[in-house]
Amino acid sequence: MSELEPLLESARKLQPDVVALRRAIHAEPELGLDLPKTQARVLAALEPLGLETRLHERTSGIVATLRGARPGPTLLLRADMDALPMSEDNDLPFRSRHEGRMHACGHDAHTAMLTGAARLLAERREELMGNVVFMFQPGEEGHFGAHFMIEEGVLEGVDAAFAIHITPLLPPGRIGTRSGPLMASADVFSASIRGRGGHASMPHDCADPIPVACEAVQALQSFVTRRINVFDPVVLTVSKIQAGTTNNVIPESAEIQGTLRALSPASRERAVEGLQDVIRGVAAAHGLEAETRHFAGYPVTANDAGFARFSLDVARDLLGARGAIEMPSPVMGAEDFSYVLEKVPGAMVFLGVRPSGVEHPAPCHSNRMLLDEDGMAAGTALHAAVAMRFLERGGLGG
Ligand code: NI
Repeated sequence: MSELEPLLESARKLQPDVVALRRAIHAEPELGLDLPKTQARVLAALEPLGLETRLHERTSGIVATLRGARPGPTLLLRADMDALPMSEDNDLPFRSRHEGRMHACGHDAHTAMLTGAARLLAERREELMGNVVFMFQPGEEGHFGAHFMIEEGVLEGVDAAFAIHITPLLPPGRIGTRSGPLMASADVFSASIRGRGGHASMPHDCADPIPVACEAVQALQSFVTRRINVFDPVVLTVSKIQAGTTNNVIPESAEIQGTLRALSPASRERAVEGLQDVIRGVAAAHGLEAETRHFAGYPVTANDAGFARFSLDVARDLLGARGAIEMPSPVMGAEDFSYVLEKVPGAMVFLGVRPSGVEHPAPCHSNRMLLDEDGMAAGTALHAAVAMRFLERGGLGG
């Protein structure tokens, strides 16, 4: 029996409290950087633990520090707290009480599990050789919450960082991660293609932006397959195209918008530059002009190789040999934990919460996303186990 197994037992005993907190947060989802009710719930759960708690000034973020009995390194454990701007279509006693807001990405579970882990670790303060920083962040869903908390110093004195993200696609309690890129960067691009409007029966007297926009979309797909290294892939999706008002008018302009995902800074940069050249070039070939814009989103979430291996080892010791898998490939979603991993080594892992008896579970961001709460005990225990072993070893070595 591994020395970590009692942690799983302790986490199971905390399950009723952890699940109750998750459900309370689930029923009252909050969006963006301002999450006063969620923040109050987390503070209430942490209050009896005697941590040093600091509130983030510009957002609802919370930084709670547990100082171990003996000195040593500092590990940061992170949970995100915000929901998504969408309505829930699940019939649950604790379903979202707010139209247009839903915890469809499991951040309610992340937050509840981390408060559980804080309790497990606070109970073991005497055994800890170092410190644990609990980072409860708002605004993961596109609001740069982690970035703002880093600006206010959440990483000061932190040696490494760890985070868990649930997934309904893995069996409950199963851990999956990998070395290197785990999730993609996510940029937004858009373009206005401008020509000359006129009568739809006389296109030669106009400069029709619609066929040019269509051609640009096709050319972008050729650009990705011909100019980007297949072993350093990008996903480029034009997800919006808009032009025209009626059947007999050629409009003056057409708008396109899309997302660009990449797994390395190099392919990201190449694609950002290239896609704008392609759109402008296609427009120019037809005598039109294109104005392109690029909005940089979250960077690549890159796991430190040593920390990813360490996390998998800890997960196997905690959950058994079949409890953790090395993922063969990254996923092209994005995470603002990427900003943390740009500054300190660490890893994010996925935690399975697939509901039982469901053949095609609804994924994260689905209006019908459900999770098996039993899987959360493994997440609570894993946060604590990673911290215990990291501090015991004085870091990754040993
Ligand atoms: Ni998420």
